[in-house]
Amino acid sequence: MAGPPLNTLVLDSSQTEIAGRILRDGGLVVFPTETVYGLGADAQNSAACTAIFAAKGRPADNPLIVHIVDPAHLELVAASVDPLSRRLFERFAPGPLTLVLPRAAGIPDVVTAGLESVAVRFPAHPVARAVISAAGTPVAAPSANRSGRPSPTDFDAAWDHMHGRVDAIVRGEPSQVGLESTVARVVGSRIELLREGAITTEMIAEVVPAGVPVVTVSSYQASVGSTAATGPLPGSAAGPAPVPSPGVRHRHYQPDARVVLAATGEVWATVSRLVSDAAGRSRIGVLAVSGRCIPTSGAIDTRVDLVTCMSLDEYARELYRCFRRFDATGCSVIVAEMPEPTGIGSAILDRLRRAAGQV
Ligand code: TXA
Ligand code: MG
Repeated sequence: MAGPPLNTLVLDSSQTEIAGRILRDGGLVVFPTETVYGLGADAQNSAACTAIFAAKGRPADNPLIVHIVDPAHLELVAASVDPLSRRLFERFAPGPLTLVLPRAAGIPDVVTAGLESVAVRFPAHPVARAVISAAGTPVAAPSANRSGRPSPTDFDAAWDHMHGRVDAIVRGEPSQVGLESTVARVVGSRIELLREGAITTEMIAEVVPAGVPVVTVSSYQASVGSTAATGPLPGSAAGPAPVPSPGVRHRHYQPDARVVLAATGEVWATVSRLVSDAAGRSRIGVLAVSGRCIPTSGAIDTRVDLVTCMSLDEYARELYRCFRRFDATGCSVIVAEMPEPTGIGSAILDRLRRAAGQV
């Protein structure tokens, strides 16, 4: 981070006018959204958006999502909106869906990392909406974590990551979704999911015309891949750019503890093996779906910190909070049950694989 630490103001959810004024004046404000906490700046202010990258320690080649509330502001951000994207926004906005669209002229290079496309989201969270409305400008906001770490899904996590690095943090309730938004783009007559989230493949497939394929691609292949929505990277020849993609080089979503993934039937055997291998007092975090893999009889070793979720929605909501809890309680390993890859289970699995260093 450039310069001395900032004196970070803590605002409550009734002080969104103050947050909006700070954003208008070129400052940085962390605020709650329904997915994760975001680190916002005026998306039309290049210097303010540059400061986001410094506050996060984020590589400059990873573009930001621009958040708006007023549909009339879409034209400030995107040069055009194709009919399929329009349909997706009509159905899923406001909410946890981000669409990649051709970029409008007023969006600075730093926001899009030089791409000719821009990512746009209409958040549903009332505090996020009030902050953005008060700012009166589109707001660029990545997740409010230090780069490479799990996204903050409650005030305490946002504070730990960002105090001293931003002008204000708006205190809200824990995020309802707990995973970052679905990022999608329309390429010709198909829809590509660049990042899975609470708006699932199945939900998108339901609202697009029959025959429109919905395919999941790694965002990091995509950011250097198809040219239909993004265009070639600056300085590259038309077609896929010959540079490594950000996600290949940068780590994502990783807690301090090592993350080990286990199929439902393997969770307890994995935990037992780790307990017997564990040196000294090392603790083991276990994240599981209720009623599927935990023995109903016999004592659980005191070194095991077990969290069971009642549903996949709860798993998504608690995932990053549990990573923090396990780090805070000194776990050296986290065993996470792999959910089925349907519905939001697919997004959970994606984040787990990244946390485990498999992607
Ligand atoms: O839920 C969310 O999306 C949160 C809240 C704050 O809205 N934001 C968030 O932002 O997760 P961030 O910066 O952590 O993730 C943005 C993702 C990255 O994977 C980035 O590469 C991708 O969106 N992205 C942004 N602009 C893009 C573009 N023009 N083309 C392709 N991918 C893009
Ligand atoms: Mg992020």
